[in-house]
Amino acid sequence: MGVYKFEGKEPVIGEGSYVFETATVVGDVTMGKECYVGPGAVVRGDYGTVRIGDGVAIEENVVIHARPGEITVIGNHVTIGHCAVIHNCTLKDYAVIGMGAVVSDYAEVGVWGVVGEGAVVRNKQQIPDRNICVGIPAKIIGQINDQYEEQWTKFKKIYNDLAANKYPNTLEKIG
Ligand SMILES: CC(C)(COP(=O)(O)OP(=O)(O)OC[C@H]1O[C@@H](n2cnc3c(N)ncnc32)[C@H](O)[C@@H]1OP(=O)(O)O)[C@@H](O)C(=O)NCCC(=O)NCCS
Repeated sequence: MGVYKFEGKEPVIGEGSYVFETATVVGDVTMGKECYVGPGAVVRGDYGTVRIGDGVAIEENVVIHARPGEITVIGNHVTIGHCAVIHNCTLKDYAVIGMGAVVSDYAEVGVWGVVGEGAVVRNKQQIPDRNICVGIPAKIIGQINDQYEEQWTKFKKIYNDLAANKYPNTLEKIG
C-alpha cells in the first residue's frame, strides 16, 4: 500500500478497506471499514484533514485533498467515480460523484446527492439530499427515484466486497 506518515500524522485505515499499492494516502486521513481505494487515487491529508466513513468507493485516479488547517468530510457508502476531484468539501452518506466531476471548496453534496459525469460543483454550492446535478457549473435536473437507489445500493455493495474480500484474497501480481 502507498500509505505514508507525514509530520507525525499517520493515516488510519479501517478493517476490510483495501488501498491499492499504486494509490497514495498521506498524513491526517481517517478511513472507515470496507473502503476501496483504486490504482492511482490520491488522498492527501498533509496540511489539511480528510475524514472518510465506511464503505466508500474511491475509484481510479480520484484526488481528495483539503486546504491548510481545513477538512474534507466524506460520509458512509459514498461512491466517487474515476478521476473525480474532491477538494475541501463535504459529501454526505450515499452520495454518487460521477466520473471526472469536481466538487470544490466548501461545497456540500447531500445524502444520496448525485453529481453527473464531468460536472463542476462550485465553491460553496449546496446540492440538497437526493438531488441530481449535471454540467458546468452544476445545475439541478431532478431527484433520484427508488429504482436509482436500489441499483446504486447494489453497485456500492460490489465495491465493499471487492475491498473486503475479492482484492485481498484473489488479486495476484503476475507481471
Ligand atoms: C447523472 C445521472 C444520474 C443522469 O442520469 P439520468 O437522470 O438518467 O439523466 P438523462 O440521461 O435522462 O439526462 C437528463 C438530462 O441531463 C443531461 N445530462 C445527463 N448527464 C449529463 C452529464 N454528465 N453532463 C451534462 N448533462 C448531462 C442530459 O443531456 C439530459 O438533458 P436534456 O433533458 O436537456 O436532454 C447518471 O448519468 C449517473 O448516475 N451518472 C453517474 C455515473 C458515474 O459516473 N458513476 C461513477 C462511476 S462508476
